[in-house]
Amino acid sequence: MEKDVLKHTLFGIEFKNPVWTASGTFSYGLEVAKLYDLSLLGAIVVKGLSLKPRKGNMPERIVETPAGMLNSIGLQNPGVDYFINETLPKLKKYDTRIFANVFGEDEEEYLAVAERLDRADGVDGLELNVSCPNVKKGGIAFGSDPQVLYDLVYKLKKITKKPLLVKLSPNVTNILDTADACVSANADGLVLINTLLGVAIDVEREKPILSTITGGLSGPAILPIAVRMIWQVYAKYGSKVAIIGVGGISNTQDALQHILAGAVAIQVGTANFYDPYSPLKIIDGLKQHVIKKGYSHYSEMVGKAHKMILKEV
Ligand SMILES: Cc1cc2nc3c(=O)[nH]c(=O)nc-3n(C[C@H](O)[C@H](O)[C@H](O)COP(=O)(O)O)c2cc1C
Repeated sequence: MEKDVLKHTLFGIEFKNPVWTASGTFSYGLEVAKLYDLSLLGAIVVKGLSLKPRKGNMPERIVETPAGMLNSIGLQNPGVDYFINETLPKLKKYDTRIFANVFGEDEEEYLAVAERLDRADGVDGLELNVSCPNVKKGGIAFGSDPQVLYDLVYKLKKITKKPLLVKLSPNVTNILDTADACVSANADGLVLINTLLGVAIDVEREKPILSTITGGLSGPAILPIAVRMIWQVYAKYGSKVAIIGVGGISNTQDALQHILAGAVAIQVGTANFYDPYSPLKIIDGLKQHVIKKGYSHYSEMVGKAHKMILKEV
């Protein structure tokens, strides 16, 4: 029988493969279920969930940029209770892992959302979006203040038994400051990276295109930044903390860059918008690559680019 080169265990859970879909780029998965069997995916990370439903921002909320896009959706979602009662029962029929992306305007909201998801059967783990503004701290993002981040992760770890992943914001001077805070607070994994802040201007109307002026940059343009941040965190922690890579992945070669830098699993984001089949193509491409290179399992490549440098010195 052919050996499964992608199946692996992480956080005590078995995954079919290390290819996940990224929050906000795959809705709650069910739309894509019309195109292919969601059970083929390693995991699905659903759109960010808050305590109450949110309408999101006014248009314009999306703009194409060179090799990417800017979005300011404003975390539109139907609220965590609707997700648990209406969406999750349909989603959990698929034989894949479900991670719920969580955010809040203050610590209490994060805790309330996480508590509900901890009790929800069918949710395998939580992914914290810490790129949103903390209303009690003058709107500074949770993910840009290591102390605030430490306190949040520490408290959340106490209320959930499920794997807790923290999705770090790249909009910081040194990614290791926030990575350190999460590792000290015992986060189970780090997801690197969320979108980068940007502005696009309409030169005819002579004003910013997005209603919120700034938006989050994603897509191929951010691939080297994501790979650099994964590199930095893996160089410090090695396999002591699980790194999930996200940012600019649209094909197997991009996914391999994340893995060789230190990611044990990867997420496909913006690429889903222009090629919804890209996660499946990457799963297949990774399998082919492992065989072509003569490895017995993809995990032999995790962080390997670091070792190759040491060899050459
Ligand atoms: C339209 C859109 C909505 C997003 N919504 C969320 C979200 O709700 N929560 C979150 O943590 N990240 C969200 N993200 C960030 C993505 O999950 C991902 O981190 C980012 O887009 C970088 O990956 P990519 O270059 O492959 O798209 C969103 C991204 C896009 C483009």
